This record gives sequence, structure tokens and C-alpha cells, in this order.
Amino acid sequence: MGTTFLISSLLILLSLIVQSKAITSSHESHHQAVLDTDGNKIQAGQPYYIVSAIRGGGGGVSLDRRERSRSSVVRQHGSEMNFGTPISFSPALASMEGRIASLPKERAIGRMLLGVGTPSSSGARTILESTDVNIRFSEMPVVWQVQESQGSSSPRTRRYVTIGGQPGHPGSSTVRNWFKIERINNSSPEYRIAYCPSVCESCEVVCGNVGISSESGKRWLSVSKHREFPFVFVKARRN
Ligand SMILES: *[C@@H]1O[C@H](CO)[C@@H](O)[C@H](O)[C@H]1NC(C)=O
Repeated sequence: MGTTFLISSLLILLSLIVQSKAITSSHESHHQAVLDTDGNKIQAGQPYYIVSAIRGGGGGVSLDRRERSRSSVVRQHGSEMNFGTPISFSPALASMEGRIASLPKERAIGRMLLGVGTPSSSGARTILESTDVNIRFSEMPVVWQVQESQGSSSPRTRRYVTIGGQPGHPGSSTVRNWFKIERINNSSPEYRIAYCPSVCESCEVVCGNVGISSESGKRWLSVSKHREFPFVFVKARRN
């Protein structure tokens, strides 16, 4: 094993650590945990129903097929009684730490010397406000993704929330897969879902919020600049 190899391994390791530390510290300094309707912190990988925060605003979300498009789009049920399909979140931070954890053994020694904690010790399992997260329907291998498609009533394209993204790997190739959860009410845990990813500095992203577009009696999740929809997260009990 040459010195060059050792040095380059150390450099890769250092850059990963610096990147991950930067994300961690910005995380820990200002971001509050996202809460469910019981007031508990939302945990990565756990199932939640995502439903309207307002009475009469409809129910939960599921996957459905829009007429005129081949792709499946996330829709909101019109009935408050229908909580739809549970979803789960995973933070971009966890993917960064996963990369460090998956480095080979010899490099793990460097990790210990440099004082980087193990992934489980850093609170990466709690979902924080205004940080990049993947959202997926529980047990589905792919994550939510923003995709342009033609709307039903006008020739203009709309940005629908669809599925098909590869989980994790924050960066330019996955930029359409990251959402942020932002609190919109100080007195109760109500949130909007923003699309304004920070996983890629060189990407040009038109930020917006997830709102509802009604088309022929169905309500679809779409991203736009001028709309938003208030959601709450209800813990789904596993049976
Ligand atoms: C915030 O939540 C409280 C309590 O649920 C509610 O009464 C109030 O209308 C909400 N405010 C807004 C701006 O939605």
C-alpha cells in the first residue's frame, strides 16, 4: 500500500467529514424538530399520515394515475375520514453520515482520530424543520420527486409531486427529490412542504411550495410559487 493511497484516502475522508460537520452544525444551531400531532418529534423511517391541517381541507395522500399522463402522481383524498397511505421521511444528513460509516475499516481509524461520532449518536434520526428530506410512501423503494407535466386545463406545464426518485445521494442528480418541512403556525404543529433543495449549489432551482391542484374532481399535489397547503403529520400505528 503506497503513501499516495494513504494520503488520498485521508483527503477523501477529510472532505467527507468537513461536509458532514458543516451540515450537522447548521442543523443543530437553528433547526427545531418537526412535530407530529401528538407533539412528538418526527423520526426518520417511521410511518406518518400526512393530512390537511384545516377542517374541510380534505384528508391524507395516496398514489394515483392522472388522466393524460403515464406517471403516477401523489393525490390528496377529498374526505377527511380518509387518511390515505402512510409516508416516511429520511434526512439528507443521514446519507452523508452513511457515506462515512461505509468507508473501509482502515479509514474508520481516521474517523475515530478525528472525533467524528457514529451515525446513531448525532440525532440524525430526528427530522428537523427547513432541512432537506426525502419523502416516500412507507415500504416503497422510490421517493417523491418533482416532475413537470402538462396540466389538464391549460397547455402550461405544472410541477407535480410524483414518485420515482432514488433515495439518498444528495447532489445534482437527485435535486428534484428533496423537500423541506416548514412550520407555519407557532401555536400548533402545522407545516407546509417546500421545494427548495439545498443539496446542490450549482443547480438552478425554482423554489415553490407543495399545494393542491384540482383537476376533474381530483386533488393533486403540485409545486408552485404562489400556493401552499397546510399539513399535519399523524403518527401511524403499526398493526
Ligand atoms: C394556528 O393554530 C391554532 C390552534 O390550532 C388555530 O386556532 C389558528 O387558527 C392557527 N393559525 C393559523 C394562522 O392557521
